[in-house]
This record gives sequence, structure tokens and C-alpha cells, in this order.
Amino acid sequence: MAQTPVKVTVTGAAGQIGYALLFRIASGQLLGADVPVTLSLLEIPQAVKAAEGTAMELDDCAFPLLSGIEITDDPNVAFDGANVALLVGARPRGKGMERGDLLQANGGIFGPQGKAINDHAADDIRVLAVGNPANTNALIAQQHAPDVPAERFTAMTRLDHNRALSQLAAKLGVPVTEIKKMTIWGNHSATQYPDLFHAEVGGKIAAELVDEAWLRDTFIPTVAKRGAAIIEARGASSAASAANAAIDHVFDWVNGTAWTSAAIPSDGSYGVPEGLISSFPVTSRDGKWEIIQGLEIDAFSRERIDATVRELEEERSAVRELGLI
Ligand code: NAD
Ligand code: LMR
Repeated sequence: MAQTPVKVTVTGAAGQIGYALLFRIASGQLLGADVPVTLSLLEIPQAVKAAEGTAMELDDCAFPLLSGIEITDDPNVAFDGANVALLVGARPRGKGMERGDLLQANGGIFGPQGKAINDHAADDIRVLAVGNPANTNALIAQQHAPDVPAERFTAMTRLDHNRALSQLAAKLGVPVTEIKKMTIWGNHSATQYPDLFHAEVGGKIAAELVDEAWLRDTFIPTVAKRGAAIIEARGASSAASAANAAIDHVFDWVNGTAWTSAAIPSDGSYGVPEGLISSFPVTSRDGKWEIIQGLEIDAFSRERIDATVRELEEERSAVRELGLI
């Protein structure tokens, strides 16, 4: 019997990441080469026409796995029966906008989307927030979806993870495939902590293969500020690499993986307050993320994990004060 298509909802579908993402989903890279999908594209009314243009191009690819496309500006329609939700559309920081303004604007997007997911999505819905501030946007959506298991709301730090792999591989002159157990801790922001004290290269601890000054003054800031460097160079934020990371995150969540990084609701592990959506070292098994336990955290790492987690706590307090959660 033909398999029922998986419904994948993409918000901000007419944006840059959307354009890099949709074709890969339709070609089977998000869920697997034998899994049919229907795409639901959510946009704001002014961008629906552009989304229709992208849908025309999707049609023109004649993807064997793509069984349908719907385009809407109504979250209740977009998330109806959705199995996977990629929350990409977000309000970018404008000139003179304070952090509170940005959180307020995104609360107006992710709150109603969370409620629509709560009311209409399929029972197995999995949500990945990509739009920034991704961790806190995921939290806002989650808090508006009390009927959905909390752990189904995640945020993307896989791009940071992939950036860390690539920087370390270049430094050591090894293929990325030689690097195991990379971890990004905390927020998808400049405070994130890419950890080389647990990463391994050829069975050796990565931090012992590089000098401390490079690790502290080059590696960590290069990974943490890579998003800003891309914006500076391209005049626009990362799009194809962000889409690639979203594909990696969802594929691994659904199909299972050994050690990677994902921002998931904290259960209190490693001193991260419960409920914060923070990046951890994780595995995925039977469709669930699990935090890798039992790692020793030295003072260097502790200080940096605490700093990025503090920022997440501040963002949570700010959205609470704004009445967004
Ligand atoms: P973009 O401006 O090209 O596209 C965003 C799209 O979202 C636009 O088409 C816009 O119309 C749409 N949109 C806005 N509000 C919406 C709403 N309420 N519902 C549906 N659609 C809505 O931006 P982009 O380059 O595609 O980036 C999207 C987001 O992803 C940004 O917030 C960016 O900062 C973030 N980002 C995150 C990561 C990460 O690693 N987590 C990496 C890169 C970019
Ligand atoms: C990235 O990491 O590339 C983006 O989150 C940067 C941004 O601010 O859009």
C-alpha cells in the first residue's frame, strides 16, 4: 500500500532559507529517500505571491516524492495535520530596535503559531525553530501548545555544530568525518559555547590537539560569530547552510543519530534550568532526542556554559515580563 505522505509545514517559505530548504525537502533529504511529503507553505499575505512562484518551481522539478503543495497565510490551515513544522519566518532586527522590541515582534508570530500547532497539528508533530532568536522563539511556541509534549519543540544549533566541525577540521587538516563528539552548548547566539574538551579526533581529545590560545581566542569566537561574518560578507544572513542544518536536525531526529548538538528543553542536566530550550550534546533514538549524560565539565567549560545559559534565562525573563509566555 502506498505510504501516507508526511506533511511538512515551512513558515517564511518565500524567504531565503525557504528557497534553499523546500527543494531539498521535496527531494527526500529531510525524511528519507522513500518518504512521500506534502508541503505546506505559510507566509504573510504580502509574500504569498512569491511563495506561489516557488511552488511553481517545485512543480517544475517533478519530484517523485512530492505529493502536494498548499500555500496559505493562515497558521490554522498551515499546521492542520502537520507532522513536521519548520519555523523559519521571523521578524528580523530593524534599525533602532531594542531586544525587547524584537522579542515582542517575534512573540506575535511564534505565540499564534504555537497555538495553531496545539490546535491542529498531528499527534506526532515535531517542531524546529530556525527564525531568531531561535531558542526563545521555540520556547514561546511551546508555551502556547500545552497539549503537545514539551520535548517536541526544539531550536536549531546544528548550523553552529557544523561550523565547529568545519573550523576544527581545517585547523587540523583532517576530514570532518574524523571528528566525533562535537558539542554546542546553550543559545544560538554569540554566547554559545562550542566545546572541544569532549570532541575527539582520531580517538584523541580535540582540545589537546590545538593550543589553548587558538581554542579560546580563535575557534570559539569564529564559530560563535560566524553568522555575523556571513552577514557582513554576503549582505544577507546564511541561507543554504542554515537550510542544510535544518535538514540535518530533522533527519537525525526522525531517523536516529549518534552524538550531535540540538537545542531541546532542559531536564536540569548540567545545571541548565529545567524548561530552557538550550543546546546540549544529544543522541536521537526511536524518534526522541536524549541528552548525553555523565560528561565532566571543567572550570573553563563551566564558565562558558553558565554565561550562555544566563542569556537564555534573561530572554525567558524578558518574554515573561512582556506577557508572551
Ligand atoms: P528572509 O527575510 O529571507 O525570510 C523570512 C520570511 O519569513 C519572509 O519571506 C517573510 O515574509 C516571512 N515571515 C515573516 N513573518 C512571518 C509570519 N508571521 N508567518 C510566516 N512567514 C513570515 O529571512 P531568512 O534568511 O530566510 O531567515 C529567516 C530566519 O532564520 C531569520 O530570523 C534568521 O535570523 C534566522 N536564521 C537562523 C539560523 C540558525 O542557525 N538558527 C541561521 C540563519 C538564519
Ligand atoms: C546565523 O547563525 O547564520 C544566523 O543566525 C545569523 C542571523 O542573525 O540571522
